[in-house]
Amino acid sequence: MSMDTFPIRRVDHVRHYVNNARQSAFFYQHTFGFNITGFAGLETGSRDEASYVLEQNDLRLVFSAPLRPGHPMAGLIAEHGDFVRDIAFEVDDVDWAFKAATERGAQAAQEPTTLEDDHGKVRVASIRTYGNVVHSLLNRDQYQGPFLPGFTSRNEPGDSIGLVEVDHCVGNVELGKMNYWVQWYQDVLGFKNLISFDDKDISTEYTALMSKVMASGNGRVKFPINEPADGKKKSQIDEYLEFFGGAGVQHVAMRTDDIVHTVARLRARGIQFLSVPRTYYDALEERVGEIDEDINELADLGILVDRDDEGYLLQIFTKPITDRPTLFYEIIHRKGAQSFGKGNFKALFESIEREQALRGTL
Ligand code: FE2
Repeated sequence: MSMDTFPIRRVDHVRHYVNNARQSAFFYQHTFGFNITGFAGLETGSRDEASYVLEQNDLRLVFSAPLRPGHPMAGLIAEHGDFVRDIAFEVDDVDWAFKAATERGAQAAQEPTTLEDDHGKVRVASIRTYGNVVHSLLNRDQYQGPFLPGFTSRNEPGDSIGLVEVDHCVGNVELGKMNYWVQWYQDVLGFKNLISFDDKDISTEYTALMSKVMASGNGRVKFPINEPADGKKKSQIDEYLEFFGGAGVQHVAMRTDDIVHTVARLRARGIQFLSVPRTYYDALEERVGEIDEDINELADLGILVDRDDEGYLLQIFTKPITDRPTLFYEIIHRKGAQSFGKGNFKALFESIEREQALRGTL
């Protein structure tokens, strides 16, 4: 008998609500190298919202914008700015999944419904998680068209930078709420707690946070959940909660199999990353042992390295990609390691604090 009490095939897509989906699509196409593969809007009969579908290997992002004042989406964007609304799961059986989740305590966001066009049909439902984030549950086994019924295909290739799939998505929740949401993912979606970090692991002279990593039954979906901890100054999580207006998605980590190539391309296209002092690299070999990459090249690009029992990983974090200091991205390259870069936390958080100080929010 399977121990997986809520089978999830994969993260199907990450949908952002934004003010101007056309410009967001252009940005992600020209920086992160996504292909624009689908569109729905006025031209396709969608009268109230426009959406662009972007793909790169197994990553799929969707950007949706309201077309009219008073659209419910517009109210959410007014509150949060551009934000991640939906981390959608592909499941075997949408009706079973929705019923199981709601019986186990999830709030419904959308009852199961069938979307249909000439290419077939897709069953879809949605449940609420922290803040204004939802998890759509969908199955497109009976569908041959682009993305979802109502979308037309687009073929506007980006220049790929080798992003492969979503590695993990991190949620920031309010003080005292981390364990509530950890329990929610356990009870409702059958996730397991992989790792916990307390304020002794994740603290600097000034700020601290707590984090627990939750993983789905098949291990393919990983959601760390952070909450602020007491420190001498305002933590990065407090800063997020204040500017975002509550709990929300802090970062999405995208996996690459060649981080040097990926980051070099991103830098050439103007993406800005958090930086660590050059001294980080002086102590690197001593800390992580021998690695395949040239340390000078990593230092030039600002790529961080950490090792665990199973291997090592390379990672780097963008600065926030919105004006509000909220959503950012991680690029991660795993060479055996299945962990999250604990050895980099201190250097990273000091880097974030330097940025916070510039923003006057530390
Ligand atoms: Fe991460």
